[in-house]
Amino acid sequence: MIREIKNEHLYWDGCDTVSLAQKYGTPLYVVSQTAIENECRSLQKEFIQKYDNVRVVYASKAFNTLAMLKIIEKEGLGIDVVSGGELYTAIAADFPAEKIEFNGNNKSDEELAMALDYGVGRIIVDGLQELDKIIALCQAKNKVAKILFRITPEVDVSTHRYISTGQKDSKFGIPLDQQLLIPLVKKAVAAKEIDFYGFHFHIGSQLSTNTTHLKAAQVALEWVKKIREKLDFEVKELNYGGGFGVRYTKEDHRQPYHYFLDPLMELTYSFCHKNNLPVPAVVIEPGRSIVAEAGISLHTIGNIKVLPQIRKYAAIDGGMTDNIRPGLYQAVYSGLLANKAGLKAGEKITIAGKACESTDILIKDICLPEVKTGDIFASFTTGAYGFSMASNYNKLLIPAVVLVHQGQADLIVKRQNYRQLLQNEQLPENLK
Ligand code: LLP
Repeated sequence: MIREIKNEHLYWDGCDTVSLAQKYGTPLYVVSQTAIENECRSLQKEFIQKYDNVRVVYASKAFNTLAMLKIIEKEGLGIDVVSGGELYTAIAADFPAEKIEFNGNNKSDEELAMALDYGVGRIIVDGLQELDKIIALCQAKNKVAKILFRITPEVDVSTHRYISTGQKDSKFGIPLDQQLLIPLVKKAVAAKEIDFYGFHFHIGSQLSTNTTHLKAAQVALEWVKKIREKLDFEVKELNYGGGFGVRYTKEDHRQPYHYFLDPLMELTYSFCHKNNLPVPAVVIEPGRSIVAEAGISLHTIGNIKVLPQIRKYAAIDGGMTDNIRPGLYQAVYSGLLANKAGLKAGEKITIAGKACESTDILIKDICLPEVKTGDIFASFTTGAYGFSMASNYNKLLIPAVVLVHQGQADLIVKRQNYRQLLQNEQLPENLK
């Protein structure tokens, strides 16, 4: 049990969260190693060990820290990175190069050079200009790049429009236009600097139905067939992206991995057998589902404001700077008072952040036991896209991250300090 309540305190992976808040201060991200390991092991059981020639790469944008990458490596998964910074972290974590896949819709020459020098396992080429750039870099460096093309499969997903990426009008991926894609693949297959593997798609995030993955896979498979017909080349790999939804509140119904993956594999096998194609390697790229539910955030309640007949607000010592998702996607969260866990809810209250934005509301109208200044508020499911999207708006400090594991707590990211806020600033002579 990751989440337990003992003596009216919330425990997370065996650690008393109230003690963690006292020891490390708030705001604080608390991430359960056991929960992450459990996710990785579900993926092992429901996918990697069940099917031949499949891989899981963790989309590290969800939560990319040295400790996280070490857990992912230990659990036998690869990672996806999308920037020099994420790759730099992976290199610093000694992550095996061949297990790194590099995504992104505008990789710079510098980032591509870094990826080639480290020898990453795949580069997912997104767009028309990138192939030429990679060929030139490989020529200069005398390297061969293993690539896939990211395609936009033109499916509309039911998720927040800010996190859907597979529709035709998207900044991501190569449009499925025969005049465009066939010559591109032809060029990749012919280039001695390129080892062309296949196609990649990622249609969106926080998805709770498998139908859109299936539609997109069908589209990708049709292209596998077309490529053989037109170019006599057999695609070696398909990457079906991530996007598997998680549970933020009681209303969310989380589907197990096999709900998505079994029909996807069935479709892949049956399509290939029917068309006499070799079954390509299948890769998936989950981010959120591996780490979201493993993480919680702790905040201290500060000022309380009562507007009779309207609303009661409790302000916390963080907010949109450590969790932008409510403000950005109207995401809904659940939470409780970590020091009054298990007590009966007695009032409806709105948890407000401290940033100077009206949209900085963490949770609107949540029912809690009577809230007092000094209480510790824990919000759930903040392990993905919380820390990784944190900002210094209002010059608030990026919180610390504590990794908890069966009662043991370790600080894996220190809290930022004011000195660090200014470390890159300098004054021109005339203002000194
Ligand atoms: N692969 C690619 C190429 C992606 O762009 C993404 C997410 C993933 C995999 C992982 O998707 P996941 O399994 O985590 O859904 N900040 C947003 C989510 C943006 C996701 C961007 N790409 C949020 O907080 O909801």
